[in-house]
Amino acid sequence: MTKLPVKLGERSYKIFIGAGNLERAGILVRSISEAQKILLVSNPTVFNIYGPPLVEVLQANGFETIVALMPDGEEYKNMEEALKILDQAVDSRLERSSILLALGGGVVGDLAGFVASIYQRGIDFVQIPTTLLAQVDSSVGGKVAVNHPLGKNFIGSFHQPRMVIIDSQTLDTLVDREYYSGLGEVVKYGIIYDRHFFSFMETNAAAIRSRDKSCIETLIYRCCEIKAEIVEQDERELGIRAILNLGHTFGHSLEKLGLYQLYKHGEAVVTGTIMASCLALDLKLINDSELMRIVELYKQLGIIPPRLVFTAEDILKGMLNDKKTQNRRLRFVLPRGIGKCLIKEDIEREQLIKAIEVTRQIEVEAVK
Ligand SMILES: NC(=O)c1ccc[n+]([C@@H]2O[C@H](COP(=O)([O-])OP(=O)(O)OC[C@H]3O[C@@H](n4cnc5c(N)ncnc54)[C@H](O)[C@@H]3O)[C@@H](O)[C@H]2O)c1
Repeated sequence: MTKLPVKLGERSYKIFIGAGNLERAGILVRSISEAQKILLVSNPTVFNIYGPPLVEVLQANGFETIVALMPDGEEYKNMEEALKILDQAVDSRLERSSILLALGGGVVGDLAGFVASIYQRGIDFVQIPTTLLAQVDSSVGGKVAVNHPLGKNFIGSFHQPRMVIIDSQTLDTLVDREYYSGLGEVVKYGIIYDRHFFSFMETNAAAIRSRDKSCIETLIYRCCEIKAEIVEQDERELGIRAILNLGHTFGHSLEKLGLYQLYKHGEAVVTGTIMASCLALDLKLINDSELMRIVELYKQLGIIPPRLVFTAEDILKGMLNDKKTQNRRLRFVLPRGIGKCLIKEDIEREQLIKAIEVTRQIEVEAVK
């Protein structure tokens, strides 16, 4: 088991990474809290596999554990479901000293964290992420939210977890599409921050694709390390943290247009990143061979987003409603070579349309 600190003054916490960490969860959580009650939030898919043994180790460490399940799916990451969990928190007399624990992917983590941030003005929150995407990204950094019909993550807070417990073994039950969607966010870190990490993925693509355990733990560790470094500098996204949104301005629009069904989050980020990279090429921030390296890495890792079926007009319209649109000015994170990036506003409409259309030409197909 490895430990990684996230240094945020009095809101500091540790990320525990390793196979079999679920069994240690009771002891780990007890090490930071005297609480009597835990509200465990999950969904039936995840709870049926990992819930009972987790409840057992929590109870063995003296936690009265109440279970609240939300339905499975991004379309349930909304206020209505959050209110149902809040009702359960009230009914089970959760106190200010109690803990809310999220067991699941980014959807469960985002919603449960949002509930923890507002219940009695905020209670302790522990993340046990079970998808690759949640282990490398959403469980770290304290951004918690639910969606609004007008846009993704419109209603939310910053509420850091007290601890993140990552058990890499939980990925064994993840279906391939979710694994590859998570890899989309993994590649993001290489593009925006670390060219050596990008090269590591190029060199080890076959092993990553076939879910080599030691490679996956290396990926999880490095992604969490980069995310922690960025969040430590800019907890509330007033500056550098925004670079984590590479591909998201386009991506959120695609997710919304696909009614949160067509695209997995990581897949939308991949298509959005290719669009951002085409824009960067147009602005001479990257060259042809760098664009091709990005597309090729996706291919080598087996990441295949759905075919782009929306018009450029619709994608632009969706972007203008996004939360990240400040004063209706679109902001884009653009790669600057591999391993660096910058944020740019005031991109011409024609350039955006061109980037979308060039992306349409680039087929991201799996390597046969
Ligand atoms: N807060 C942040 O900083 C942040 C960052 C990135 C993404 N996100 C959010 O994360 C969400 C996407 O998260 P996700 O990709 O984890 O999707 P998800 O939570 O919907 O999980 C994907 C699917 O995998 C299932 N699942 C989860 N763990 C499993 C396991 N171990 N075995 C078998 N099945 C399992 C889930 O039930 C679900 O059907 C989006 O809502 C996105 O906005 C948040």
